[in-house]
Amino acid sequence: MQEYNQIYEWYLDTRNTVTGVESVLSAFDGLKKGSTVVDLGCGTGLPLATALTSMGLRVIGVDSSSRMINAFKNNLPNAKTKLIKLQDYTFPKTKISGVLCWGCLFHLSPDDQIKVIRNVFSSVTCGGRFLFTSAKEKDCRTGEMDGVTFEYYSLGSEKYNEIARNAGWRLMHESEDEGKNYEYLFEKL
Ligand SMILES: C[S@@+](CC[C@H](N)C(=O)[O-])C[C@H]1O[C@@H](n2cnc3c(N)ncnc32)[C@H](O)[C@@H]1O
Repeated sequence: MQEYNQIYEWYLDTRNTVTGVESVLSAFDGLKKGSTVVDLGCGTGLPLATALTSMGLRVIGVDSSSRMINAFKNNLPNAKTKLIKLQDYTFPKTKISGVLCWGCLFHLSPDDQIKVIRNVFSSVTCGGRFLFTSAKEKDCRTGEMDGVTFEYYSLGSEKYNEIARNAGWRLMHESEDEGKNYEYLFEKL
């Protein structure tokens, strides 16, 4: 998605430094230091990927916007990055202990979301975590940020849970946070 290149400056001004941080710290708390977490739709890495590194975790940032990835590289010079669409991303063969997808999955079509989620579910090691945000109810709508049109989709809680159960993952919790993001946290059994 190239649209985030168009709204890059606006996004930097709008993204606050708090939203998601507590959720990320708590979701990945149990992982051993040095474990790898893939941040899908990582943006600039502020504040979430930096929160992960503050826990001693390694981060791989994945994003389809070149401007976001360049900012991510500046903010986290030691992290690996991949400029690619999530739908086309192949996870590394090395051990992946967690995946974060904050504020991004809902930009993908329902079919692409299922593809990405299944990819996550088959790539993460047992005991690993997957934290993502998407609306609670099944949804399809159009919105605007800084004059640019974006599509938003949600498969809905029931469907996300069904896919997770079938893949051997369990729901740790789902809830709305203080910033009105609806978040899902799954663990691989
Ligand atoms: C709302 S921002 C969230 C960024 C970051 N996770 C945060 O919390 O600030 C959405 C990010 O997802 C990226 N993105 C959107 N669709 C994508 C896709 N299909 N593949 C890869 N990245 C995508 C955008 O470029 C943008 O950086």
